[in-house]
Amino acid sequence: MDEINKKIRRIGVLTSGGDAPGMNAAVRAVTRMAISNGIRVMGILKGYRGLIDGEIVEYDARAVSNILTLGGTVLYSDRCDEFKTEKGMKKACRTCQKYEIDGIVAIGGDGTFRGATDLSRRGIPTIGIPGTIDNDITATEYSIGFDTAMNTVVAMVDRLRDTSESHARCSVVEVMGRDAGHIALQGGIAVGATGIAIKEMPFDEDECINRIIHARMNRKRNFIIIVSEGMGTNYAENFTAKISRQIPDMETRFARLAHVQRGGSPTLRDRLVATVMGNRAVELLIEGKKNLVVCMQNSKVVDLDIEYALNLDKRYKNKMTDEQFAALSESDQKSMTKFIKQKKAEIAEFYQISKRMSI
Ligand code: F6P
Repeated sequence: MDEINKKIRRIGVLTSGGDAPGMNAAVRAVTRMAISNGIRVMGILKGYRGLIDGEIVEYDARAVSNILTLGGTVLYSDRCDEFKTEKGMKKACRTCQKYEIDGIVAIGGDGTFRGATDLSRRGIPTIGIPGTIDNDITATEYSIGFDTAMNTVVAMVDRLRDTSESHARCSVVEVMGRDAGHIALQGGIAVGATGIAIKEMPFDEDECINRIIHARMNRKRNFIIIVSEGMGTNYAENFTAKISRQIPDMETRFARLAHVQRGGSPTLRDRLVATVMGNRAVELLIEGKKNLVVCMQNSKVVDLDIEYALNLDKRYKNKMTDEQFAALSESDQKSMTKFIKQKKAEIAEFYQISKRMSI
């Protein structure tokens, strides 16, 4: 390891996109793993924006003391459009040269990984770590922040259930997840929701309302309906109004949990996954690798080519044309098709379980 170490003397670490609990744990792990291997660490502030503007601070082992337990990101975050431009990219590369940054660990979602690929292409080896509460990075079973966000949803909705039971009400709760309904689906199961609306599965509003009506006749007093943000703007409010119209003798209330889901001290799972992934990301840079994303598959930490991961994500989210898909290698097409089929089947299975529980 010592010989290879000569190549990587300094690395940068950044967090980008929507923040997620556990990002700090990942920053700490990257820092300590690097320092343990004699590598200096530059904290890049405000995501890719800090790379453009040269907002860099050196981190030693003590600089990351006590951040393991903190929500948010001590490096701050940003969604930086300038980074996508040629001019922005050139500035970022100059900053890397100035600070002698030999490699970067970028923590965030798919936008972050697109940036990581651009940097790798320009000769700055970059490794991605998935960090987003939405858990919507297709290539990984798990992204840092998901568990904490879901625990927040559970804590908040449990409180809503208390008051809904007292007043025999229905609460329609919108949870985050712009492109994916994982928080709604898994959180919904954990709170015992009567209905879960996610865009990945057909949602029959009338059937859901009938279920409420039947359960009321069977002495059930309170109802929780979880709606994923991905169902569209005002979908949850409109559905709340529809329930009120169709069941006029029951009060129905709407609640949006919004950014409260993004904060808070990370759970054990997020601290652990972030630490293991941070460790692995630095190991990969030391091994001379680049343009990879650290993922969780079959409960194991693996690394995948970022471009493969981005294509898989696009294919899964129907953001890739058939022509673009056909241009990929046959083995990539095969493995993606298999993976996507499996992922969809898992979601369908969870959805069926949630329905069986909500009688
Ligand atoms: O990507 C995480 C996420 O929290 C999404 O669930 C949500 O749609 C979005 O970020 C909100 O973004 P912003 O913080 O820019 O309002």
